[in-house]
Amino acid sequence: MIELNNVSKTFGSIRAVDSISLTVQPGELCVLVGTSGCGKSTSLRMINRLIEHSAGSIRIDGEDIDRIDPQQLRRRIGYVIQSTGLFPHWTVARNIAVVPSLLGWPAARVQARVDELLHLLGLEPAEFAGKYPSQLSGGQAQRVGVARALAGDPDILLMDEPFGALDPITRDSLQNELLRIQQQVAKTIVFVTHDMDEALKLATRIVVMDKGRIVQQDSPQALLAKPANAFVETLLGGQERGLKQAGLLQVSSLMQRLPKALPAPVGASVDAAASLRQALSVMLWHRCKRLAVVDGDGLQIGVLHLGALLEDDQC
Ligand SMILES: Nc1ncnc2c1ncn2[C@@H]1O[C@H](COP(=O)(O)OP(=O)(O)OP(=O)(O)O)[C@@H](O)[C@H]1O
Ligand SMILES: [Mg+2]
Repeated sequence: MIELNNVSKTFGSIRAVDSISLTVQPGELCVLVGTSGCGKSTSLRMINRLIEHSAGSIRIDGEDIDRIDPQQLRRRIGYVIQSTGLFPHWTVARNIAVVPSLLGWPAARVQARVDELLHLLGLEPAEFAGKYPSQLSGGQAQRVGVARALAGDPDILLMDEPFGALDPITRDSLQNELLRIQQQVAKTIVFVTHDMDEALKLATRIVVMDKGRIVQQDSPQALLAKPANAFVETLLGGQERGLKQAGLLQVSSLMQRLPKALPAPVGASVDAAASLRQALSVMLWHRCKRLAVVDGDGLQIGVLHLGALLEDDQC
């Protein structure tokens, strides 16, 4: 779907991106992560030709992007940035409708698409379609930014720190929505962040960059299990690694399942869909080594033992 082959970008004497090669498969959510100035945004913006690469080749669906008109290319690729880039004098509906209108969709289809996307992003059309960007909270504006990027139904979405400016709770809920939308509409997404926790939560693959180069690309699990060098290990949080790893696994993966569901338990419990990290936190809080595991209806369906988290004792 997206292929970068030995791609470099120089600004004068600065080598912002240094010979990176990367293939992103259809339906993947690929996260570029690294410290400030390592070339994440430049890499992303070369894919939709907002920045022209200096060397190497970039292909989309096998087609060299140099041969695609930049305007056409950008209509095929959704782009979301931290500051949303909404047009301030246009309503939410008109902002979302930019690409469909450019693509010449009939008015009724555009209107239907706008409503559909507002619903998808959890914004009631009757309330939000006629508002202006200045009347929105940061989180709402960011949702509109995502809706706009999805409007022309592009196969590819490029997202540059889209949730970076939001408070942790809003960010968490938008991350969950992105995962939900990704399950529903399966876009190919390249997502930039400098927040490793965000990368671990969202990515099917994490690409770690340092000084314009790719130092490692792997699944979140593989990255945590085997960081390629000390820099990746530091990015992963050093001694916090164990908790981050536990954050990737669900309670249901390690619990002992009961033969049949029981009524709601009295003592400490955790949801089967929670992470092992959350379960550990509940155990620490209640000072207990076992937790009842409950399903979405509050019925007990299993038990989680602290010992199960420590299996494969390597000490
Ligand atoms: N238009 C430009 N002209 C000159 N240098 C630039 C330009 N754009 C980026 N750079 C330089 O290229 C390098 C990579 O910048 P880039 O914006 O890709 O970093 P980043 O990883 O996105 O950082 P951040 O996390 O701070 O957004 C930096 O050293 C930056 O100063
Ligand atoms: Mg950047």
